Amino acid sequence: MSRTLLVLATGGTIAGTAGSAIRRDYRPGQIGIEQFVSQIADLGIDTPLIGKQIANIGSENIGPEIWATLHEEISSALADPEIAGVIITHGTDTAEETAFALDLTLPTHKPVVLVGAMRAADAVGSDGLRNFANAVRLASDRDAAGRGVLMVMGDRAFAARDVRKAHTESVDAFRGFPRDAIAMVSPSSLEWFGAPWRADEAARFVWPEHWPKVDILFAHAGMSAKDVAHALAAEPAGVVIAGFGTGNMPDPVRSAFVDAAHSGVPVVRASRVDEGLVDREPEDDANGFVAARAIGPAKARILLQLLLASGANDAATIQAAFDRR
Ligand code: SIN
Repeated sequence: MSRTLLVLATGGTIAGTAGSAIRRDYRPGQIGIEQFVSQIADLGIDTPLIGKQIANIGSENIGPEIWATLHEEISSALADPEIAGVIITHGTDTAEETAFALDLTLPTHKPVVLVGAMRAADAVGSDGLRNFANAVRLASDRDAAGRGVLMVMGDRAFAARDVRKAHTESVDAFRGFPRDAIAMVSPSSLEWFGAPWRADEAARFVWPEHWPKVDILFAHAGMSAKDVAHALAAEPAGVVIAGFGTGNMPDPVRSAFVDAAHSGVPVVRASRVDEGLVDREPEDDANGFVAARAIGPAKARILLQLLLASGANDAATIQAAFDRR
């Protein structure tokens, strides 16, 4: 059985350097994947790695175009008996969005693992090589399949649907909700906290030819119906409101969104709060709203885009996709 892993490199801090161990400013995407792969061999890890440079950029510039390249490369690797699993090196700023877009559009029969770093490669206390070695350990484990796309950071592995960046600078920057880490990992050990729950699942969505325009509006004190009107003037196919608390919003904003939902623009109520559920409330039926449940606004946008691209645009079908784990 093949042990070879494909490593797709996109850049980020894990490939970043400052030219100094103590400088705060650094440039992401400076180290090529060949250098990374050779460092792993130098650690004595003998897993065969094939490196491929997809991009070498900060993840603030990653979106559907690079997602499409990743999706194509990973789909070929999943069909290739010579490849046991895939690792993607990625900036941490948008890793959770790439992870979720791929999670929803890939089958689950081989491990697919994203990894990043919070400190540049030449910074004192750099976490990149450790995280990468952990990703190799994780992606080499057969039990890593059947859990969807995973992300490994700081000796912990998270499922794509749960993971999010929760700190701007700490090396312990990632959290999961509603589940926190689903495994502890080091270069020499791996402890899963449960069995795979998506074994041999087919892709939930086909890769879209076009990503529909879905906007996120961030609720704020004093938000008005005019703010909603401005957003709707750009004719989005759907809207996510990052509401207060459990997905609340000022009354005039709610009324404007009710009109939008009734005119056929799906409206998803998420929360601007980091953790907690946005559950359905009794008025959602009459309002035509969807509750994002455990999914934050950035990922809610991706799920709504894939639903719209697949032809779903009624609130009940969209709600069922948000309810599903
Ligand atoms: C980025 O997301 O590319 C920069 C930040 C990071 O990788 O931690």
